[in-house]
Amino acid sequence: EDAASTMRPILHYTARNTWLNDPNGLVWHDGLYHLFYQNNPFDNVWGNMSWGHATSTDLLHWTEHPVAIACDEEEDVFSGSIVVDHGNTSGFGTEEDPALVAIYTSAFKEGSTHQGTQAQSLAFSTDGGMTWSKYAGNPVLGRGSAHFRDPKVFRYEGSAGACWVMVAVEAQHQQVVMYRSANLKDWEYLSTFGPANSSEGEWECPDLFPLPVDGNPENVKWVLVVNVNPGAVAGGSGGQYFVGHFDGVQFTADPDSLVSPDADGSTDLRQCLWLDWGRDYYAAVSFSNTPDNRRIMIGWMNNWDYANSLPTAPWRSGMSLAREVELATVEGLPRLVQRPVLPLVLPLDSGVPKSTFQDVELHDSVLELPDAMPGSALLIEAEILPGSVRSIAFRLLCAPDGSAATVLSFDPVTSQLTLDRRTSGNTAFHEKFASAESAPVKLDGGVLRLRIIVDQSVEVFAQDGRVVLSDLVFPLPGSLGTDLRVEGGTATILKLVVSSLS
Ligand code: FRU
Repeated sequence: EDAASTMRPILHYTARNTWLNDPNGLVWHDGLYHLFYQNNPFDNVWGNMSWGHATSTDLLHWTEHPVAIACDEEEDVFSGSIVVDHGNTSGFGTEEDPALVAIYTSAFKEGSTHQGTQAQSLAFSTDGGMTWSKYAGNPVLGRGSAHFRDPKVFRYEGSAGACWVMVAVEAQHQQVVMYRSANLKDWEYLSTFGPANSSEGEWECPDLFPLPVDGNPENVKWVLVVNVNPGAVAGGSGGQYFVGHFDGVQFTADPDSLVSPDADGSTDLRQCLWLDWGRDYYAAVSFSNTPDNRRIMIGWMNNWDYANSLPTAPWRSGMSLAREVELATVEGLPRLVQRPVLPLVLPLDSGVPKSTFQDVELHDSVLELPDAMPGSALLIEAEILPGSVRSIAFRLLCAPDGSAATVLSFDPVTSQLTLDRRTSGNTAFHEKFASAESAPVKLDGGVLRLRIIVDQSVEVFAQDGRVVLSDLVFPLPGSLGTDLRVEGGTATILKLVVSSLS
């Protein structure tokens, strides 16, 4: 295998030999998770936007399928969502055998009937999502706007009955616009939210869903996800969210979700609510129709700052791990906590190499950890009492000669967790790639809790997923070393488990 192809992640979805961006139409149906995505069927850079397709039973092992919804002379097929039309409200299926209905953005091409606009269109599948037909009555919803896109549709059960609700964006106005429909074809305007919080860049790929706070069905809040590009806390693309209330017409953000601009009109982005504090988690949206009402999200693991330049071939760019999200009370406020979907329950005889450390005191020293193995991902779970050390740092994917590593460090004085990929390996392919990202992390009882997944990227879930930090990395071949360094005092490793998944 050449150097580039050894850089394919093993736990993260990539298309075999083409480009992908946003996850689209995430839906569970008949035992399968469907991952559709923005795809260029003919190349490994953005263009010819169509919906690619993959399926999985466990959100970890994916099978790629032929292109599901293709661009044509009239339109590019931009981002959107899929619903299972259980009541056959659209008439595309039957009540016994409901159709899957995709609501996507038609980005109309020069010379087409609706040129210069983006509008919402339908496609449907009556074979469980494997083949799709565009609806003859497309588009079903336009505003005469060139930047109206990324519809996310869900079933809303209100006191006056059930209906479909769509959230979409007026991207350049930093607005989420909401509509409702009885049949997915005729839409009635409801309301507009925004601008709010991060509003410098375009607003894209919104999502809106209810979640019980701390699992309490009597206390349900609504979460509005708004992806922004640029304007993310780490620069470029990223996802912010708001917690609030949705009454079937309007979303109202809780005051504690909103950040007031400073006197000069700028917003302190570090006060906004972020799905991820790293560089590479964008266009994240959630699955519909999941069993047990689990709320599972996937993001595109990339950033428009350098997306088309990633040094891989023949594919380019991949998805994040799936993340289950919940609302929990954090410092008195309802906040999202995220948990990666991982093969956590490993049979004892699975042969997964594991190293466990318990109650190890480190005083200005280095703990050597097992190397990553070629072709495998590394999972690190750690509970650490940092005390008052100057710094505690995991060095991941270290080159044999020590010249390169990705460094994840915690500073107890500032309470910042920093992921630094400036010396991670190949950073030269784009001037904006070398970077270090920091997130504030509040310890519980003095304990730093980390779950780290290393798989041609580093995804860090701190304090049981209250803070998440994700960055792509492109280590040089053979950079497989791992260690933990403590500087300026004594830290106690309460527990540390390193596992390797191939
Ligand atoms: C977000 C986005 C969407 C659009 C799609 C086009 O990354 O710009 O707003 O629908 O990508 O590929």
